[in-house]
Amino acid sequence: MKLRSSFPNTGKRPTLEELKEATNADLHPTYVADAHTLIGVPVEEYDLVLADPSYSAEDADHYGTPLVDRNKVVRVLAERMAPGSHLVWLDQAQPMYAKKLLKPEAAIGIVRSTMHRYRCVLIWRKLAPEG
Ligand SMILES: C[S@@+](CC[C@H](N)C(=O)[O-])C[C@H]1O[C@@H](n2cnc3c(N)ncnc32)[C@H](O)[C@@H]1O
Repeated sequence: MKLRSSFPNTGKRPTLEELKEATNADLHPTYVADAHTLIGVPVEEYDLVLADPSYSAEDADHYGTPLVDRNKVVRVLAERMAPGSHLVWLDQAQPMYAKKLLKPEAAIGIVRSTMHRYRCVLIWRKLAPEG
């Protein structure tokens, strides 16, 4: 999924219509959806989810979007992903996650160069439902 969007930073989450209007058609995205709901995206069908959200309010300003609620996005993904699939998340802060749904498998620190911020790639595996 390739998604780009640009819309006024109103402090509110983008509506699907705003995301659709803001999508750069040149990128030919397969799906356009708000990451907080992922409505219309068949998350269950993928073995791997790569997430590269805006890391801070300043970054969100740069993209012209409100900052995502990272905990909510991870919650929606964890509920919808297929057991055994993986979530790879690049960020500056670890989102909260449900331990009964996601098992952390790796955390890789990234140092780009002197005086650049640290980032981390977090990798979780979706667990099979208990019982
Ligand atoms: C760090 S950039 C990721 C760039 C991406 N890796 C790429 O190569 O194009 C964060 C992206 O998240 C998008 N974004 C922000 N809020 C979003 C939301 N609620 N739902 C979906 N995408 C959102 C922004 O428009 C921005 O393109």
